[in-house]
Amino acid sequence: MNKNSSERTLSIIKPDAVERELETKIKKIFLDNKLNIVDSKKIQISKEEAEEFYKTHQTKPFYEKLCSYLSSGPIIAIILDGENAIQKNRDLMGATDPKKAKDGTIRKLYGISIDKNSVHGSDSLENAKAEIAFFFN
Ligand code: CMP
Repeated sequence: MNKNSSERTLSIIKPDAVERELETKIKKIFLDNKLNIVDSKKIQISKEEAEEFYKTHQTKPFYEKLCSYLSSGPIIAIILDGENAIQKNRDLMGATDPKKAKDGTIRKLYGISIDKNSVHGSDSLENAKAEIAFFFN
């Protein structure tokens, strides 16, 4: 494999999935799909940190609820590495709304609602770099 084509992305296992002890099952999906886990940590962030993390959504009507939710309990931040990792992770997660996610995707398997959708994944190379730095620098 050409090492240069590998990239890194950030995944977050959200409070709903941590609470239901889905860490091992979700990580297995990454590993089974050739996404290596470079680093992983369980933390709880403050509402202010969640606001900073999701600042690109600050004009959205769901921003307040989203930030309260992400800071409501422990989360697991994970650095994934692999070929085309950003898109691959997004494909594995499925649509934001679990009701619209394809069969076999993480959100279809485990998501409860559009808010409690079990996982977050970076959506671009630029955001992946910023999001990894947010949790791991
Ligand atoms: P995530 O991939 O973490 O990015 C932003 C989050 O906002 C998204 O997952 C959803 O959990 C949440 N959200 C809540 N309501 C909406 C909505 N109407 N559209 C998109 N995202 C939403």
